[in-house]
Amino acid sequence: MGDLTTPPPPDPATFRVAPAAPKAVPVRDPVGAAWRLMGWGSVLARHDALIPREITPLLPAWVRPIAAFVHLFAGREGREGRPGQRLGKAFEHLGPVAIKLGQVLATRADIFGGEFATDLGRLKDKLAPFPTDQARREIERSLGRPVDSLFLDFGDPIGAASLAQAHPAWLADGRKVAVKILRPGVERRVARGLDSMRLAARLVHRFVPVARRLEPDAFVETIARSMELELDMRLEAAAASEMKDIMDKAASEDGAHMTAPGVVWDGVGKRVLTLEWANGMPMTDPQCIEQPGLDKDALADNVVRAFLSQALDYGAFHADLHEGNLFASAPAELTAVDFGIVGRLGPGERRYLAEILWGFLQRDYPRIARVHFEAGYVPPNHSVEAFAQALRAVGEPVIGKQASQVSMGRLLGQLFEITALFDMHLRPELILLQKTMVSVEGVARRLNPDHDLWAAARPVVERWILRELGPRAQIRDGVRELISGARALSRLVQDPPRPETVVIQKYGTPAWLVVCISVATSASLAALLLSIWSIIHR
Ligand SMILES: Nc1ncnc2c1ncn2[C@@H]1O[C@H](COP(=O)(O)OP(=O)(O)O)[C@@H](O)[C@H]1O
Ligand SMILES: [Mg+2]
Repeated sequence: MGDLTTPPPPDPATFRVAPAAPKAVPVRDPVGAAWRLMGWGSVLARHDALIPREITPLLPAWVRPIAAFVHLFAGREGREGRPGQRLGKAFEHLGPVAIKLGQVLATRADIFGGEFATDLGRLKDKLAPFPTDQARREIERSLGRPVDSLFLDFGDPIGAASLAQAHPAWLADGRKVAVKILRPGVERRVARGLDSMRLAARLVHRFVPVARRLEPDAFVETIARSMELELDMRLEAAAASEMKDIMDKAASEDGAHMTAPGVVWDGVGKRVLTLEWANGMPMTDPQCIEQPGLDKDALADNVVRAFLSQALDYGAFHADLHEGNLFASAPAELTAVDFGIVGRLGPGERRYLAEILWGFLQRDYPRIARVHFEAGYVPPNHSVEAFAQALRAVGEPVIGKQASQVSMGRLLGQLFEITALFDMHLRPELILLQKTMVSVEGVARRLNPDHDLWAAARPVVERWILRELGPRAQIRDGVRELISGARALSRLVQDPPRPETVVIQKYGTPAWLVVCISVATSASLAALLLSIWSIIHR
């Protein structure tokens, strides 16, 4: 193994900056939206989540009487629990769009604080199921064929959430499958909810200048986009199939981490998704960890490594990894379901993530700081040294603690909080990743309370650094450039553009050919020298 401690500084060209915010969409039915918004307001007031009493003392004097008035409407629900818990309850009450809003807000511990985000994250997306007969009708309408032509048997619902519910069924070839069906009329409910949210964003933008920094319009459109995706089961089928490919590839390369059930494409339509039945026992079942031969430590390692390998090696990760979506079987097999949210990281974010995890593993704070500046995440008017100092404040309290007390996800969360102080704008995918990491760690810790997350993560991060930034990668990149230079050269020599031959006859070797050959040769030589130079200087 090469020297891993001092890979060359990252190339800014491989990082991406945040994309343009989504465009605002007009409110379709302002009167209906306003009416529903008042309904939302009354539910929030009942839960004391509109202007929570806890923040009243912090408000300007002129707002306090308004807050006091709103508090008159607080019901029994508004008297119990912390603000995040009350808001979560109110959102559960308000349906799918509010639930989604809550889930997204819960990922922003950097803005709202850790406790609030955690409380809001407990929001439950469980609803009474709709009847099986209606589910059969929905399938027939979506797939355009009778349920009996597809399934030998079709069972009662096993889980129901605000957007969809799942049923067990059996195919003609005897395979057991899970069929997920969108709730009847849920698209209309979502469209109306989004309309109200758009109006709310407009109002906030107009009347709450301090909130403009949070770009309420763009925020609502991000939610709208993510819900549109979740309301098309064909897209979830595609995500399931892609993630299965990735998981199987990762497993074949470095041992079994996690897998996913196969998609039954005959049973996929806009409103219906059919997946093979997941292997193993649901991890929500208390009997699951009692299975004979189950290796809880290996299972805990697997969930962490699978997640990290998906994110770092493939740039696409299952972003909803909790026990409700995981199945386990002996000795340490994991199967994931529910591909409604897939997080995606571009090459730049993958590199950023690997670099910071590696930096923390090595306690190399100046290096982590440099990565932030070179990526353009932190504006150059800040000092690298001051940033490195802030990073040390995050990292050092953690180092030396017992492994069981160290949370990688929370460390990243604190890092993101600190980066906000340095005007750093993070891509939402990184925040989604951090949130998922907290969830993954929760799963690992519940399997083994002493689980060492860093030790579990190290091989994946180390492998990535070695592969992408180590000496071999340097040589590989140098050789690649050499080859592409040589190819360009040989193309030019073998097939010079025809009309120019006339010029050759007249003037000998034309200037353009000389220039091209010189450029290609110097580029190849420079690439080779650079790669050798950086290896020598390690
Ligand atoms: N392929 C499957 N095999 C077995 N059970 C499944 C499968 N897919 C879903 N389920 C069950 O149905 C529940 C709901 O499905 P899920 O895809 O997680 O939907 P939701 O988005 O509502 O959480 C899961 O928690 C799981 O218990
Ligand atoms: Mg689920």
